[in-house]
Parts: sequence; structure tokens; C-alpha cells
Amino acid sequence: MKEAITVRDLNYMYSDGTRALEDVNMAVYEGERVAIVGPNGAGKTTFLLHLNGILHSTEGQVEVFGTSLGKVKREEIIKDVGLVFQDPDDQLFMPTLFDDLAFGPMNLGLKEDEVRERVKKALLLLGLSGYENRCPHHLSYGEKKKASLAAVMSMEPRILVLDEPTANLDPRSRAELIGIIKELNEREGTTIVIATHDVNAVPALANRVYVLNKRIIAEGTSQKIFSDFELLRANNLEVPEISKLFEVLQCFGYNCEELPLSIDEAIEHLTRTVEVNGGHIHLHVHEHTHDEVKKLKSKYEHHKTF
Ligand SMILES: Nc1ncnc2c1ncn2[C@@H]1O[C@H](COP(=O)(O)OP(=O)(O)OP(=O)(O)O)[C@@H](O)[C@H]1O
Ligand SMILES: [Mg+2]
Repeated sequence: MKEAITVRDLNYMYSDGTRALEDVNMAVYEGERVAIVGPNGAGKTTFLLHLNGILHSTEGQVEVFGTSLGKVKREEIIKDVGLVFQDPDDQLFMPTLFDDLAFGPMNLGLKEDEVRERVKKALLLLGLSGYENRCPHHLSYGEKKKASLAAVMSMEPRILVLDEPTANLDPRSRAELIGIIKELNEREGTTIVIATHDVNAVPALANRVYVLNKRIIAEGTSQKIFSDFELLRANNLEVPEISKLFEVLQCFGYNCEELPLSIDEAIEHLTRTVEVNGGHIHLHVHEHTHDEVKKLKSKYEHHKTF
């Protein structure tokens, strides 16, 4: 598989002396969906800003489709790598939403008809048709998040980099956004890199996960990362709620070696269990059940969400 993004020994220090990244190495293959998870201040945003040349470090290298970003102009980089900022106010700056979405394609030198077509398509996909003349700064936060994605999608980049795309969205908008990102990846083959705290969305969003805490701490499938409880605790990361529920069920005698990470996996697991057990799921309370549940609660106590 072709490498879309290759990062080698990347170090970054802000001008005030804050060391944000240390020896980061990463490879993202074309067509992959990769999530980067890590606590606040871990360097996720700093890292993403290197992927489209906003930040540039003299220590280490970032390559996009084999070309070192140090060797190309930013205008060239943004054709391939579209970055959706964590804060939508950093993305939207024109008087109308149309202008914001048209800005990128116009700078690519596309004809007016094609620019209009791209703007229309992006707005439709994000449910923002009819918002063309709205002032971006007067949109609600959720609308701004979607508008920022639309502004980047109108560029049709081969690699889409998203910083906390689901933060502060209502449940429907969050689900829609997850669906749109997956569809872009599956239908158009867009490579996706997402930094997120939304662990419940990671299994659906990503094929592979990197844990970043200044340096790369771990890499693997969601299953691997989210079953390593010590790793999660050490990096202040949540466990998906559905996994916690199945751990509770285990205390009640439910048999499950691999904890489901998403509703889909849970349905699959439950269906299999019902089939194997002649149409039933057997749960029971035994002598130690409540002690086990108590232990489980204290295991998750540092997250204080139980
Ligand atoms: N412009 C800046 N100048 C100095 N330090 C900065 C600057 N921007 C970020 N930092 C510091 O760099 C570190 C990494 O910040 P960054 O925003 O990359 O983290 P993050 O993982 O994206 O966090 P969050 O989950 O809160 O978004 C933090 O310690 C932060 O305070
Ligand atoms: Mg951030």
C-alpha cells in the first residue's frame, strides 16, 4: 500500500520553549482512516498543523505521497491535504458562507461554474443547502463545525485531516458527521486522519489508532488500544461506554473474551451468544457479582464517569 503521510523523527518546540512533539514517527497509508488520541496538551493539534505545512519543524520530516513538505509551497500542499481546524472560527473568515466555501476552489484556479458546483455539493452533503448567504460568524457552533468541514471538502483533497470533528455536536449532527467522514473514505478513497477525544466514535471512525502524548506511545487497532487499560489510564483516555457495559455484563456471567467497542459489535456479539445458547442469554447474580462490580467501578474511577 502507498504511504499517504510519512512522518519521521518529528520534534517541535514552540518559541516559548514548550516542547510539544518528541521523535514522532507515523505512517498513514492511502485510503486508511487513522485516529490520533491523547490527553489535553498532548500535541495532537500541533502535530496536525505540521501535516499541511502551517507549522514546520527543522527537526524531522513530513512527507505527503513521498514528497517532503519542506520542498513544496503551501499552495501545493493544501491541494492534497485539507485540514479542518479544531476551532471553526479559525477556518471561516469571509462575509458569507458561499465565499468561504468558494475561496479554496477559486485559489485552485477552477472555473466559476465548477466552483459553484463544488460549493453546492459540499453544502448539500453537510445539510447546509440554503446557507450560502449566511454570515459564518453568526452560525451556531455546530453549524460552524459543519461549515468548516464543507469549506475543506470543496477543495476535494486526497487527504482529509480533522481536529476534534465531533466536539460539541448534538447527537444527530455527530452521527451525521461520522457517516459523512466514513462515506468520503469508502466512496472516494479519501485518506482520513482524525485527532479526537471522542473514544466512542473512534471504533467507527478509524481502522487504526495512534496514542500520542508528546511522543507516540502506542499504535494498533481500536481493539488493541482500548483493551490495554494501563495504557489508557496512563494517558488519561476513556474506555468506550459500550465496553464498560459488557464488562458489567461479564460480572453477571456473560461470556465474552473480546469486549465490543461499538453498538454494531455489541449487536453482533449478542446475536452470536443468543444463537449459541438456544435463543437465550443467561445472566445471573452469584456470590461475588457485587464485589466484582465494585472492583470494576473503582477501576474506572479515575475517569469519574461511572
Ligand atoms: N502557540 C503556542 N505557543 C506555546 N505553546 C503552545 C502553543 N500552542 C500550543 N502550545 C502548547 O503545546 C502543547 C501541545 O498543545 P496542542 O494544542 O497541540 O495539544 P492537543 O493535544 O491538541 O490538546 P487538546 O486536546 O486540548 O486540543 C501544550 O502544552 C500547549 O500548551
Ligand atoms: Mg487540540
